[in-house]
Formats: sequence, C-alpha cells, structure tokens
Amino acid sequence: MAADDAGAPSTGTAIDPRRFRDVLGHYPTGVVVVTAIRADGTPGGLAVGTFTSVSLDPPLVAFLPAKSSTSWPAMRDAGSFCVNVLGADHQHVCQKFSSSGGDKFEGVGWQPGVSGSPVLDESLAWVDCELEAIHDAGDHEIVIGRVRDLEVRELGAGPLVFFRGQFGIVGG
Ligand SMILES: Cc1cc2nc3c(=O)[nH]c(=O)nc-3n(C[C@H](O)[C@H](O)[C@H](O)COP(=O)(O)O)c2cc1C
Repeated sequence: MAADDAGAPSTGTAIDPRRFRDVLGHYPTGVVVVTAIRADGTPGGLAVGTFTSVSLDPPLVAFLPAKSSTSWPAMRDAGSFCVNVLGADHQHVCQKFSSSGGDKFEGVGWQPGVSGSPVLDESLAWVDCELEAIHDAGDHEIVIGRVRDLEVRELGAGPLVFFRGQFGIVGG
C-alpha cells in the first residue's frame, strides 16, 4: 500500500504542516481566553484551545501559547494569568481574542481576580493562576500555572467546542 493512500500510516519523517493541522483538528477542544495584566497596566488576552488540567496535588493547569503570539510575551511578566472558559454563546468573545492587535477588551466586561488578572463577565468558569513554569516546545511554549482560585459561574451552560477548524456543538 502506498504511503499516501487515504488513511494509511505515513512512513516518512517529514510531516506536511497542512496534514498535521487536518489530522490534529479531528481532536475536539474547548476554548478559553487566557488573560493577564500587561507591564503597561492594560489587560491582555488570547483565545486558546490547548488548555488542560495537569495535576491535582499540587493544583496545576497548562496551556500552549505560540511563539508567534504578540499578546503572550507582554502578559508573561505579570507572573499570573486567568483562564476564562467560554460557553457555546461566547463565539464573539473567542473571535475578539483570536485576532492580533486592536483593543481586544473594548466592550468586554471584566473584574480582577485574586491575582489581578481579568475574570471575564462572559465565561462559564474561570481559573486564576500564578505562573509556575514555562517549558520550550518547538514553535510553542508550555505554560504551567498553579491554581490560586477558581469558580463556576454558569452552571449547566454548554461549552464552546472547536472541531475540524470550526465551532461545533457537542454531539453535533
Ligand atoms: C479556537 C481557537 C483556539 C486557539 N488556540 C490557540 C492556542 O492554544 N495557542 C495559541 O498560541 N493560539 C491559539 N489560537 C490563536 C490565538 O488566539 C491567536 O493567534 C492570538 O490571539 C493572536 O493574537 P495575539 O497576536 O494578540 O497573541 C487559537 C485560536 C482559536 C480560534
């Protein structure tokens, strides 16, 4: 069977980036907005699908910002960040925070969490973290946060799901 037959395992070592995205896009993720107060005192944030819980004891979570992100380097020095979990009706929030530049917080309500990082009014749940460690990982970083405070705000609301490059619905 040829290596490029549909569904056949690839035997080559070079992975085509488009194929990588296509295949990995079949793994559904939730969507969060990671926020922090930047060095100039203004709030920063980016939409992230790579959020995961890591450890219960100690309580650790992680996400992976791309090295191309313009928001993350300015947020990193805060030493803390807040993970805001988006719901199915928060697509517009995701769109705001997934584009580079501009004032992403225009028209977005928020309150400071215990770390000072923005807790968005429009979130299903939030996890406020102290920056624990940053590991290098190819064209991304692996950012580990130690959980300092967390809350569910909208019990029973459906999640925002990203699947095969678009927003989806669970079971859809
Ligand atoms: C559903 C979704 C998930 C995303 N997940 C990530 C992610 O895990 N890591 C990341 O660096 N960018 C991710 N992005 C892209 C960033 O949101 C986007 O590149 C970033 O906000 C660009 O703005 P910035 O230059 O201000 O950082 C995601 C975008 C979307 C729509």
